[in-house]
Amino acid sequence: SPIQQAFIDAGAVQCGFCTPGLLVAADELLERQSDPSDQDIREALSGNLCRCTGYEKILDAVRLAAARQGEAV
Ligand code: FES
Repeated sequence: SPIQQAFIDAGAVQCGFCTPGLLVAADELLERQSDPSDQDIREALSGNLCRCTGYEKILDAVRLAAARQGEAV
């Protein structure tokens, strides 16, 4: 899916333990908000803990997916 590809392209997957929950949360966010702010992304993902990435690449992945979604419209 586009969100999965964005996670791969942004390097947001390391061990992968947290990835399914982040993908579901990010996908749900992008369904309700096509152009989320960083605060929106942080709030949407806030229930998911990642021990590997430091979150910056995860935020990049969601930003990337949102941008690609906007280009496709
Ligand atoms: S990628 Fe390892 S816990 Fe998130």
